[in-house]
Amino acid sequence: MIRIPGDKSISHRALLLSALSFAPSRLEGLLPGEDCRSTAGILRAMGCEIPPLPGDGGPIRIQGVGLRGLRGSGSALDCGNSGTTARLLLGLLSGLGIPAVLTGDASLRRRPMRRVTDPLAEAGARFREEGDPGCLPIRVDGGELEAIHHTSRVASAQVKSALLLAGVGAGAEVDVTEPTASRDHTERMLRRMGVQVQQVGAAPHRVVLPAPPSRLDPLELHVPGDISSAAFLLVLAALGRGSLEIANVGLNPTRTGVLEVLRRMGAHISVESPREMDDPGGEPAGDLVVGGSRLQGTRIGGGEIPSLIDEIPILAVAAARAEGTTEIRDAAELRVKETDRIRALTLNLRAVGVEVEELEDGLVIQGSDHPLQGRIRAFGDHRIAMAFGVLGALPGNSIEVDDRQVVEVSYPGFWEQLREVHRRGTALSGGAGSVSALTPPRPVVTLDGPAASGKSSTAQAVAGALGFRHLDSGALYRAAALALLESDLPADQWVDRGVEAVARRRLELGETEHGFEVLMDGRPVEQEALRSPRVTERVSEVAAIPSIRELILDPLRTAAARGGVVTDGRDMGSVVFPDAQVKVYLTASLPERARRRILQDGGELSAVRIEEEARRLAERDARDRNRAVAPLRRPEGALDVDTTGLDFSGQVQVVVDRVREIWPASGA
Ligand code: S3P
Repeated sequence: MIRIPGDKSISHRALLLSALSFAPSRLEGLLPGEDCRSTAGILRAMGCEIPPLPGDGGPIRIQGVGLRGLRGSGSALDCGNSGTTARLLLGLLSGLGIPAVLTGDASLRRRPMRRVTDPLAEAGARFREEGDPGCLPIRVDGGELEAIHHTSRVASAQVKSALLLAGVGAGAEVDVTEPTASRDHTERMLRRMGVQVQQVGAAPHRVVLPAPPSRLDPLELHVPGDISSAAFLLVLAALGRGSLEIANVGLNPTRTGVLEVLRRMGAHISVESPREMDDPGGEPAGDLVVGGSRLQGTRIGGGEIPSLIDEIPILAVAAARAEGTTEIRDAAELRVKETDRIRALTLNLRAVGVEVEELEDGLVIQGSDHPLQGRIRAFGDHRIAMAFGVLGALPGNSIEVDDRQVVEVSYPGFWEQLREVHRRGTALSGGAGSVSALTPPRPVVTLDGPAASGKSSTAQAVAGALGFRHLDSGALYRAAALALLESDLPADQWVDRGVEAVARRRLELGETEHGFEVLMDGRPVEQEALRSPRVTERVSEVAAIPSIRELILDPLRTAAARGGVVTDGRDMGSVVFPDAQVKVYLTASLPERARRRILQDGGELSAVRIEEEARRLAERDARDRNRAVAPLRRPEGALDVDTTGLDFSGQVQVVVDRVREIWPASGA
């Protein structure tokens, strides 16, 4: 059973509203993503103490400051990438009459805000646009709000919620109508806090706050998992023809359009243990069980769009792998999301080989089962990155995402979870007659062993013989050392704080024809820089820093996620790839290793030298076995290959034979 992070929309609202309560609230399962951190950061800047959002969704207590307790901040309030933070706060701050400047990152500063500020200004609020017309930064400039009556052209929960919060803040009545019902988390939460909110009709949908509250009751809330995040795994499992269980997913009916569409396309999705979180009046949730089958193209449009607006990127990916054509219409709102998602999907689908037509309000996508390959651009948009991450994880495809970091906005741990599903073939039990298609088609081969056992050259040759890629973990440690040398962090702080400096440089492995190249800040690092003497001198020190070893696990595992790699090191089969399909432990007698080391260093062989070198290696073995970080040991389940009597090609052959024995498909 997989668990996914908390619902983003509910988390924002829970933070904002509990800050306004007159008593302490207890919130559990909040999304620790960057968007929610932006909301929490702004509330802190306005005087409400909010503890750090726990990475594991553990509970926090928020001591509300009451409806009038927030104060203005001298500096601009940064909403980061989060449209929900910006729009909800434009409403709340203008309602409360708190002067402030709201701003955000480059993507958010391009997104339209007048859909919120126009109706608020109509009700008496004053704003000053300090950026592009209609965009952040915007100064909330006081004004007295009167009753807010508005009919919105778009079904937008952000608009609706902004107006409701403005009404709550100003003590003004609110009456909003939207063309179809958008997500109603704000309405539900306000009711739980003792506020009367009426919802009338489906299309159009009207929401009324007839009697603004004088105080908000505290919340005791369990945030369910985000269905918008679950959607990525649902599509992965559906297309992979496996089955997967996702625990505790929010199933608010205004959000479940993606389930209907995937079912229509042929996926089997069932809801187990449906429940109401924090009932009565909480959010519906349940465990999802998805089973794949061949998906068919479909039409997506009309009134169902608001219930799946954030899932269109991943539905477009499902469409690219379905049989026939999928047409998505009435989704012009996608053009004003974190990026223009219609454009981004069109460009990226084409870049990997999918036939797609761009429409003003949607896309027409031709499904196929050709291998899809290429590099895609996330355009700073988390959901674009994740959608193509899923497409790239499917067998036969090879897709590189230019910016993987963006997923932090809504789904911290996405890449790890994707890999986990992939690696375990997670509960991906293939159905009748179908092999779990998510099992890597080719194995990961690890070669561990003591110094001078010939791991690295063997790994390279084995990879060559099998047509696999050689994954050289050493290059990443070298890149980490380079990052530290280039940082302004003094060397005596590397152990304690080095990992942050390395993380900032975003180390990744990009695929090349026969192996991988290290990318730093998205750009390949020159071999010359990696092999420079100053790096060589410091690399073993850097590789002994546990937090840096930990950091490097991610790029290593990501590079190997599709299988077909041979990798060598000291803890590859034990720590980095404990589930590798083929593990080899290379050894050779001490004199033999000594002989190889001397030859490798260009020295002359003599009995005395060999003896001397053998002694040095024995000491090194003892040190390596006993060191605290990544000690040398034989990985469980590894095949011992004693290469003492073998020449180099014999040694390579033993490993190649072993791979073919375990995985007959691999180039046999
Ligand atoms: C959200 C509403 C939707 C959605 C966004 C989150 C919310 O935006 O796309 O990701 O939490 O209210 P719109 O209100 O612009 O449709």
